Amino acid sequence: MSMQISTGASELRDITKMERIGAHSHIRGLGLDDRLEPRANSQGMVGQAKARKAAGMILKMVQEGRIAGRAMLFAGPPSTGKTAIALGMAQSLGSDVPFTMIAASEVFSLSMSKTEALTQAFRRSIGIRIKEETEIIEGEVVDIQIDRSLTGATKTGKLTMKTTDMETVYDLGTKMIDALSKEKILAGDVVSIDKSSGKISKIGRSYARSRDYDAMGADTKFVQCPEGEIQKRREVVHTVSLHEIDVINSRTQGFLALFAGDTGEIKPELRKQIDTKVAEWREEGKAEIVPGVLFIDEVHMLDIECFSFLNRALEQEMSPLVIMASNRGMARIRGTKFMSPHGLPVDLLDRVLIVSTKAYSDDEVEKIIQIRCLEEDVKMTPEASEVLVAMAASTTLRYVLNLISCAQVVARKRKAEIVDTPDVRRAYDYFMDEKRSVQWLKTQQGALVFEETADVGSEIM
Ligand SMILES: Nc1ncnc2c1ncn2[C@@H]1O[C@H](COP(=O)(O)OP(=O)(O)O)[C@@H](O)[C@H]1O
Ligand SMILES: [Mg+2]
Repeated sequence: MSMQISTGASELRDITKMERIGAHSHIRGLGLDDRLEPRANSQGMVGQAKARKAAGMILKMVQEGRIAGRAMLFAGPPSTGKTAIALGMAQSLGSDVPFTMIAASEVFSLSMSKTEALTQAFRRSIGIRIKEETEIIEGEVVDIQIDRSLTGATKTGKLTMKTTDMETVYDLGTKMIDALSKEKILAGDVVSIDKSSGKISKIGRSYARSRDYDAMGADTKFVQCPEGEIQKRREVVHTVSLHEIDVINSRTQGFLALFAGDTGEIKPELRKQIDTKVAEWREEGKAEIVPGVLFIDEVHMLDIECFSFLNRALEQEMSPLVIMASNRGMARIRGTKFMSPHGLPVDLLDRVLIVSTKAYSDDEVEKIIQIRCLEEDVKMTPEASEVLVAMAASTTLRYVLNLISCAQVVARKRKAEIVDTPDVRRAYDYFMDEKRSVQWLKTQQGALVFEETADVGSEIM
């Protein structure tokens, strides 16, 4: 894909949309069949059958709207797919069921209190499905006329639209003009424009223009020129999160803050007003609550105040499903001197469904390596992948997955297209895994900055 650089906001969005390959980008769902039985290798998922099935059951309950205010915990060693399964769940949720993912440490930010950060995360995960009447303009485009100012900074224009019964001319602002050119709207297209949001959708090309071959692609759809009024009212349903309603209505923040992501704290009074309003809408049948999912990764990083907040928040009427993940065994609860399983206080653990994840077998590791090779577009000899599997046994799955792209770079250096055993070995030499790093540190005693010797162990595990 070639790079485009321009000042147009629409193009900018296209560039940032270019997808990178992330650690979990091969995960496309939970890989379950209709009876919620895990398939051996599907949607990027391999093994971990029990946990996937449990996740699927919970998911089903969420989708049926039967579960809210519940919590589940994935507990297991590092690299056993806790995050991957949670993301698989997210992929299987409908597009209008909100899913929020935070790492517990994000809560400790300087710009807002811990409870505010958690409240925002909770409210991001609760959707409100709202029915609204909007005005739309629907018709065939007769003509688009655009005038640029001398500097090119501002654009104005006119759009002529018609139905079989009438024709109207609309004035265009810069935003509309950009939207029209982004959607590549031409005279002869039948379009529908949402008046409040300015969103344009192309319905097809008018039959009357079916002879203009030059303006057609292979997938051109022909439609009749609409009848009746150009301006129509239509009922639309859309889902927004409670948090979005909070931000849009907060006078100090306003609409734009949503895009900047910098929302700051929101006043409790405002939230109360919004909750009351939403309750009203529900009674009038205008809105429905869609409880979503909040995923808190590395949940043992929360402290005792956060945990007590969670306890209370889970009991509220509008509460999402909370999924947590922890790789700790017996660990100290942050902010106290007490030890507890997974680093979570027992009163919270008591209301949590715990699902454990286990280390993978060699076979499973091999399959995951193959999936990642496909995802990263890396060709590898069977021998090399066997070596990686063997390495995974003494290191971790995550480490060997990281080695794939490193080994590819090594292979390319010797101008080879296919990664072979020596490339993998070399990558293994260049990059240490955790165990070797610890060994190396031991040989370096005292040479590094900030070394605590005595209770490092108890902090880490
Ligand atoms: N069952 C699985 N199927 C496919 N890929 C997996 C599976 N489990 C883990 N992975 C991949 O292995 C890597 C480590 O897993 P991750 O979910 O991050 O572990 P955890 O969160 O338990 O520490 C990630 O790249 C993840 O996508
Ligand atoms: Mg993880």
